Amino acid sequence: MTNAAIPPPDPNKKIFDEYSGTYAQVVKDATAFAGQEHAFYLRFKARLLQKQIAAHFPQPNKTAVLDFGCGIGSMTELLAADLPFLQGTDVSEQSIAVARKRLPKVPFKVSQPTRLTYADASFDVIFAVCVFHHIPPELRVANVEELTRVLKPGGLLIIMEHNPYNPGTQLVVRGCELDKDAVLLTKNEMTRLLKGPTRRAVYSAFFLFFPWDNKCTRFLERCMRALPLGAQYVVTAKKL
Ligand SMILES: C[S@@+](CC[C@H](N)C(=O)[O-])C[C@H]1O[C@@H](n2cnc3c(N)ncnc32)[C@H](O)[C@@H]1O
Repeated sequence: MTNAAIPPPDPNKKIFDEYSGTYAQVVKDATAFAGQEHAFYLRFKARLLQKQIAAHFPQPNKTAVLDFGCGIGSMTELLAADLPFLQGTDVSEQSIAVARKRLPKVPFKVSQPTRLTYADASFDVIFAVCVFHHIPPELRVANVEELTRVLKPGGLLIIMEHNPYNPGTQLVVRGCELDKDAVLLTKNEMTRLLKGPTRRAVYSAFFLFFPWDNKCTRFLERCMRALPLGAQYVVTAKKL
């Protein structure tokens, strides 16, 4: 007899457990061809997350934020100083063990593929960076619903993902052992997933058109954000 309350085993949990000690090196190797360190991409996305959080919540130091699919805590580490109420969760127990060691003051929890152990309406903001392409397509709706449950009304769900239309992104995904089970989704698919009776998509943009970050590329990135050519994209939804 099957028990509907028990979610199916998640193959990604095994992959990311296996790579918890070598995650940074594997991603570094896969992205090296573009001439930038993995840290560059993390910092770039951290800046965009900070901007979006601050635009909706003028006091980030009082804002409850969840890093969903935090892995070994690389993004968590970049944001923790400005967000004292930041927490992290991931299905990979071993990645969470690394994150806890790295950031002893940040609360981290192991989650189930479609079940979080947080109470309803716990967070003002939940972000997920490069997580959804690792969630099997049949579990994505349930995941978004579970994220919505733990979000406060008026709270934001910020999803950053690989853009399947960018050839460089395709190259990275094909060359990365961690992405062997990845199923990329387009910005339109992500937007459809996030829209619903309890959520409204409030912002979307493509980004990382250039492997550099300076005054000039920031200006160009702003002008080009509607072009489906950036290496990644962001879709933000608000809980109604
Ligand atoms: C490519 S890593 C990204 C890690 C982190 N967000 C970052 O940007 O450094 C994807 C992470 O998503 C996690 N993941 C996959 N499916 C998940 C799910 N259903 N719930 C929570 N985490 C999940 C994996 O275990 C893995 O740590």
